[in-house]
Amino acid sequence: MPDLAYVNGEIMPIEKAVVPIEDRGYQFADGVYEFVASYEGQPFLLEEHLDRLERSMRELAFDPIPRADIKKAVLDLFTLSGYPRAGVYIQISRGVAPRNFAITPGMTPQIIMTIRPVKDMPEALRKNGATAITVEDTRWGRCDIKTVQLLAGSLAKQKSLDSGCDDAIFVSKKGIVREGTSSNLFIVSGGRLTTHPLTNAILPGITRMVVLKVCRTADLDLEEKFFGTDTLYGADEVFLSGTVTELLPVVRIDEKSIGHGEVGPVTRRLYDLLRKQAMASGGTT
Ligand code: PDD
Repeated sequence: MPDLAYVNGEIMPIEKAVVPIEDRGYQFADGVYEFVASYEGQPFLLEEHLDRLERSMRELAFDPIPRADIKKAVLDLFTLSGYPRAGVYIQISRGVAPRNFAITPGMTPQIIMTIRPVKDMPEALRKNGATAITVEDTRWGRCDIKTVQLLAGSLAKQKSLDSGCDDAIFVSKKGIVREGTSSNLFIVSGGRLTTHPLTNAILPGITRMVVLKVCRTADLDLEEKFFGTDTLYGADEVFLSGTVTELLPVVRIDEKSIGHGEVGPVTRRLYDLLRKQAMASGGTT
């Protein structure tokens, strides 16, 4: 099967899929999205992703779409593609209308999806850990909504690659450490984990939520609290969490070694627990 796309109810090869130029997703980034990955052919945490998608649409006052329609399309794509480990991007725009800052009433939300195999992180990166730079967070004030307005993240990621690193970490003007370009961030200090609290400044990551649950069951101490770059640089371990990222250790930030500059035991343990949960659930919750 080729990589597939879904456009408003129709499934086709990805290269055949097009959207109208007056789609507000294209003109104004007036769209929301989700990314769901499968393990062994089964989508992992699909209901949680659909919950977040519905929330994003509600926050932007999109006309609602029946959840069952979206779910069926996602499951059809996973089944038809036959890929054991794949990722579906679900992207919903407010609709199509002549270009106008004001929102034309009565638009029909446009639903597009794509499915491709997930490119897993290189094994060496998992084993040796990633490197990162910090960048000022210039994103808008509602990072809790998963919108397609991703330019700041894309430019930050490219800046990190151009400087020979793997990713960038957003830091607020006042020095608060937020999250990665497409992942949440955790630190481990003296055996205790800390991550940014759920506010408008970060995405409420589904993987973040799983890490919190795993920490509870594994009796690991975790606090949701703001912290600055000094705390980040001084941490024993740092890792990123996300659907593609899973858990990725970061061993060097802004040219400073984190802890001993190698993957730490807490990150390794949590990664194993997360993988075990993903595989044991056959992908489902
Ligand atoms: N990104 N923070 C940001 C800014 C993200 O873009 C993502 C995910 C996350 C992690 O969320 P989750 O655990 O639900 O994947 C945090 C997706 C994978 C993407 O844009 O491709």
